[in-house]
Amino acid sequence: MFEIQADLVGTIAGLSTASDMNDLRFLHHAERVAYISLRIGEVLDFHTDQKKELVLSALLHDIGVATTGERLKLADLAPEQEFASLHCKRGYELLKATPIFAPLAQNVLEHHNYYNDGLRLIPAIIHLADRVEHLLKKDIYCLWQIEPITNYVQKEKGRLFHPQVVQAFLELAPIPSFWLDLENETYRSILRSKDELAHTLTLDQLEEIAWMYAILVDSRCPFTAVHSSGVTRIVELLSRNLGINSSKNRLLKVAALLHDIGKLAVPEAIIQHPGKLNDRQMALMKQHTYHTYYLIGSIGQGIEPVQRWAAYHHERLDGSGYPFALKAHELELEARLIAIADVTQAITEDRPYRKGLPKPAVEKILFSETKEGRLDPDLVSITIDSLNEIMYFQ
Ligand SMILES: [Fe+2]
Ligand SMILES: [Fe+2]
Ligand SMILES: [Fe+2]
Repeated sequence: MFEIQADLVGTIAGLSTASDMNDLRFLHHAERVAYISLRIGEVLDFHTDQKKELVLSALLHDIGVATTGERLKLADLAPEQEFASLHCKRGYELLKATPIFAPLAQNVLEHHNYYNDGLRLIPAIIHLADRVEHLLKKDIYCLWQIEPITNYVQKEKGRLFHPQVVQAFLELAPIPSFWLDLENETYRSILRSKDELAHTLTLDQLEEIAWMYAILVDSRCPFTAVHSSGVTRIVELLSRNLGINSSKNRLLKVAALLHDIGKLAVPEAIIQHPGKLNDRQMALMKQHTYHTYYLIGSIGQGIEPVQRWAAYHHERLDGSGYPFALKAHELELEARLIAIADVTQAITEDRPYRKGLPKPAVEKILFSETKEGRLDPDLVSITIDSLNEIMYFQ
């Protein structure tokens, strides 16, 4: 009954945008690096499997970047090896733990390595593509930038960059459409429409990917380090108690895992703020569910229910929620459930400025939210009945 037409490259291209939204200079960095890499791979006559490995590794190459400050430093022409290796190692660990991406982990680990005899072509291509992407400024006509970029790449042949990769790049650089594809954002549709890169996602793989992003979101803030996984556990427990059927349950789990993915697009100064947010900070925080909505939407056709259930977790029945200010009749049971799980997880978890609340205080808050007409009363009462179970694991 739930048919999702999700493609692996399109999904990762879409979701990778989240971390690149932190700073507009880096918007679509991952996708642009993937496109440059693909074009180099084509010049090198890569076969289909190599191209798939190259494009996916390039889309995920910076998944280990933890902060905007780190991203800025990595944009330096030749960041210190020791510094660069931090995000390579983080990315490696994250991908290693995700079966579908484990074969790509080594490429990500080596994507800042200088040229040496043993350097493999895929990380070497990503390295060069990454530098070219940083050099290519978005506010200058791209065709005016070919010469200085080419000169730089040539100068670093055999030191920073693999000679074979430099050679392939030099064949590509005189072709105007290569650069114009980047300037016009044509690369986005090219990456998503190449038949040879197509790979339909199974639900198992979608769940794996959702877990990886949940870990990534949680790792951005030490005091909400288990929030996404905690909300998912509560949602699973409540949906079991509600008797929701198993195929819906899987999607509900994906929605719970991804509900805060939009937080990747919120600056870490806000995410890690150890106290109540002021109005201006709160305004930025409120962007996250908006981004969650569109990021999940980019996964593919059929994902719409997951998109709604996940992104509506700060909507309230009385219309006081965000980001769409929806009303009760627009909020399905699954979205209401994730909203309650989100509140419950947040107030039972320890924060640096307060301890996790005890059961009576949790009940009081959930009841008053119900009385005010914000949370679903039936679901709240089921939650309260399950509180012992929920809090046992907190
Ligand atoms: Fe990197
Ligand atoms: Fe990068
Ligand atoms: Fe949230």
